[in-house]
Amino acid sequence: MFRRYKDYLPLSLLPDDEEGTPYRPQKTDMRRRLLTRGLVLVSVVVNLYFVYSSFTAWPAPLDDYQSLNTHPVVEEKALSFKPPNPRDNAVVTGLYTDAFATAVATLGHTLNVANSSASRLLFYLPDKISKRALCIASVSGWDPIPIERIAPPFSGVHRHFLDQYSKLHLWTLDQRGYESVVYVDADALVRRNFDELFRLPFTFGAVPDVYTTAQGYVTSFNAGVMFLRPDTELYNDMVAKIATARYPAEQAEQAFLNLYFGAEVLRLPYAYNANLAIKKRTPALWDALQDEMRIMHFTMAKPFLQGDYAEVPLNQLERNAEKVARKKPAFKREIVEWLEAWHETRRVYRSKLDKCNALTE
Ligand SMILES: *[C@@H]1O[C@H](CO)[C@@H](O)[C@H](O)[C@H]1NC(C)=O
Repeated sequence: MFRRYKDYLPLSLLPDDEEGTPYRPQKTDMRRRLLTRGLVLVSVVVNLYFVYSSFTAWPAPLDDYQSLNTHPVVEEKALSFKPPNPRDNAVVTGLYTDAFATAVATLGHTLNVANSSASRLLFYLPDKISKRALCIASVSGWDPIPIERIAPPFSGVHRHFLDQYSKLHLWTLDQRGYESVVYVDADALVRRNFDELFRLPFTFGAVPDVYTTAQGYVTSFNAGVMFLRPDTELYNDMVAKIATARYPAEQAEQAFLNLYFGAEVLRLPYAYNANLAIKKRTPALWDALQDEMRIMHFTMAKPFLQGDYAEVPLNQLERNAEKVARKKPAFKREIVEWLEAWHETRRVYRSKLDKCNALTE
């Protein structure tokens, strides 16, 4: 670095102050070299830090969750409307493969325990669902409604989401007289009544998604729980646009809905779609959510499935859930909760379930 000064005369004999202390060039050079190396090191570290931060999310306050606000999510005094009419409101779930039949039955039972005031509708694909599975899914009071499959408009859709565009039929429920709809994915449990959602004046509401990866707490919503006001005209508009709009293919209808409603969506509290990903990312937030939780969403562990989304026979559900719990010990408590809800469902609807299970179609 200092090679170009190699021919300079050493100044070691020149006094550098009044006392005549000899000038010591080696020491200064060493200092300079050390300083340069230090600066290079600092610069490398700073650069690495910026590269690292560009790959990780902007820190969200929720990542360092502290239980500060313990007020209820809903102000009861604001609910002084007339009692809701079940014919105006519907809770809807979907059955697109036989493997989810027991989950739908269990979800329906927990909805009954919570005294939901709304009608219960079960969307199903008649070409894909056996009579046996539809019978099992309906035991706890769902009213089955056959729907036509809406095929994904392009390739690249995640293979678990290939039937999910059919969800858009929710918006046609105005044809059956419904004014408000709460859609709930089959891999969920109801913990508390959520009738207050039917009183929202907005046209669309959903809960922000949560990822265990660097993305963390995002502003896009999870389509596993949605409040919506059915409107066939809007349905036609959406279906006309699914193929031409620009959005990532993999997440299917969820990505499309995030584009279609992204600017209008009313952000609902996490209590309405308590995604297991929250537990993984911020256990303290998951703990704080327990009392308010209306709907628990089994995104990261599905006690009622085996292998790659395969069906589990009724008499093997218990063993299967225990196996899933051993594989995903972080969610053991939640899996046990699902299993308890299934046991109750089995107990309450035993004779109906046995009859359904004997069907061979
Ligand atoms: C549901 O209604 C029944 C009968 O009115 C009542 O005993 C029960 O406490 C209610 N459950 C909830 C969770 O409100």
